[in-house]
Amino acid sequence: MPAVIIVGAQWGDEGKGKASDQLGTQVDYVVKYNGGNNAGHTVVVDGEKFALHLLPAGILTPGCTPVIGNGVVVDLDVLFSEIEELNSRGIDTSKLRISNNAHIIPSYNKTMDAVNERMLGSRKLGTTGRGIGPTYADKMNRIGLRIQDLFDPSILRQKVEGALQQKNGLLEKVYGEDGFDVDAVTNELLSYADRVKPMLMNVTAELNHALDRGETLVFEGGQAVMLDIDHGTYPFVTSSSCSAAGACTGSGVGPRRIDRIVGVAKAYITRVGEGPFPTELFDEWGERLREVGGEYGTTTGRPRRCGWYDAVVARYASQVNSLTDIVLTKLDVLTGIEQISVCVAYELDGQRIEDLPDSQTDMRHVKPIYEYFPGWTEDISQCATFEELPQAAQDYVLKLEELSGCRISSIGVGPGRDQTIVRTSLLD
Ligand code: GDP
Ligand code: IMO
Ligand code: MG
Repeated sequence: MPAVIIVGAQWGDEGKGKASDQLGTQVDYVVKYNGGNNAGHTVVVDGEKFALHLLPAGILTPGCTPVIGNGVVVDLDVLFSEIEELNSRGIDTSKLRISNNAHIIPSYNKTMDAVNERMLGSRKLGTTGRGIGPTYADKMNRIGLRIQDLFDPSILRQKVEGALQQKNGLLEKVYGEDGFDVDAVTNELLSYADRVKPMLMNVTAELNHALDRGETLVFEGGQAVMLDIDHGTYPFVTSSSCSAAGACTGSGVGPRRIDRIVGVAKAYITRVGEGPFPTELFDEWGERLREVGGEYGTTTGRPRRCGWYDAVVARYASQVNSLTDIVLTKLDVLTGIEQISVCVAYELDGQRIEDLPDSQTDMRHVKPIYEYFPGWTEDISQCATFEELPQAAQDYVLKLEELSGCRISSIGVGPGRDQTIVRTSLLD
């Protein structure tokens, strides 16, 4: 049985949560490997809607063990709020496991996130304000707090004190904000320790043993390749390794153990926050995609920027992640559009380019080169097989497959668990 990575192939919100949830009934572990509660994964089960942020979608599947890996940053308050919310809706969360090496988002980093954005002014990133960037910065700067520190109060206090020496200096002297009290922060974090303890798991060892036993693992990515700290549109990115490689560093499972790498892509494209977006639509078509697609952020409620499918981005996602499959979502949202545009290449300084440019300035200046495809008007939301799709919808999918350089293994025709056309199983 395989290890499958699910990764965002655009700028996020492609439907990774739904894809992960769908495999859930057939898998033993669903592992979140990057990001934190900046993610918003909406999953619809039997008409009931769940918005997950920190918890992986496997939490909704009885029998599956949901895991928070070392690559994740954890807001403990959010962790327990999400757990309580799910428990109140009858979901059993007792199998949730967490790595000792995952980093903690302390309250001061949420303030740092806000003041960083304020300081950037018109160059702000439009972060989710959840303290993600400052917490990953602390990790790299080796002043971060980890889950294991909750179980050694004197070490935790020393680490909080060390971090606050820097942060309070900045907050008080540069930004004119109140600083944080070492004891108050330490005690708040320690108040979670007893509740976290039963969730601890040696994630690297357990996942590798699970693979040895022939069990099935799904790695559920947060964010997406175009928001990856190394491979995205830096600096307009998040601060983690969202791409497939991040599943290995964020869990301790090595690359040779991975069988399938699945990129999730919408049949069009969206982005939240600032940064370049070549196929962005500013006209009524963008508005239509936003309204019909319900393109408002799961985490912040912000309207998502909408545009046509970008095959240059899809090919890039395929390269960076070595995709074996694409899960194409939200094809139903395109129903009723007479002519659908697809960006097949970019124009840069009068030249046609097929690959994503590696300079941000160029990325800002590229112009999409479009090809146009006939749309369809039939309701496709109940189609269960590829052949049941109208011919124009089939042709559109086949064209995207050809342009993206990767097979499209399943197609979403609605938000429900069952509203998916499976062409090739992701778990064989
Ligand atoms: P994620 O962050 O990648 O998990 O995606 P989000 O959950 O933020 O956004 C995707 C939205 O599209 C959610 O509201 C899903 O319920 C919804 N969705 C997923 N797949 C489909 C689909 O095939 N059709 C439609 N209409 N909605 C979908
Ligand atoms: P899912 O997992 C879409 C964006 C933010 C901002 C940038 C940096 O639901 O696809 P951060 O708070 O991470 O420092 O913000 O990244 N962003 C997302 N956009 N989907 C997400 O997650 C995102 N997580 C962060 O809007 O532009
Ligand atoms: Mg989302």
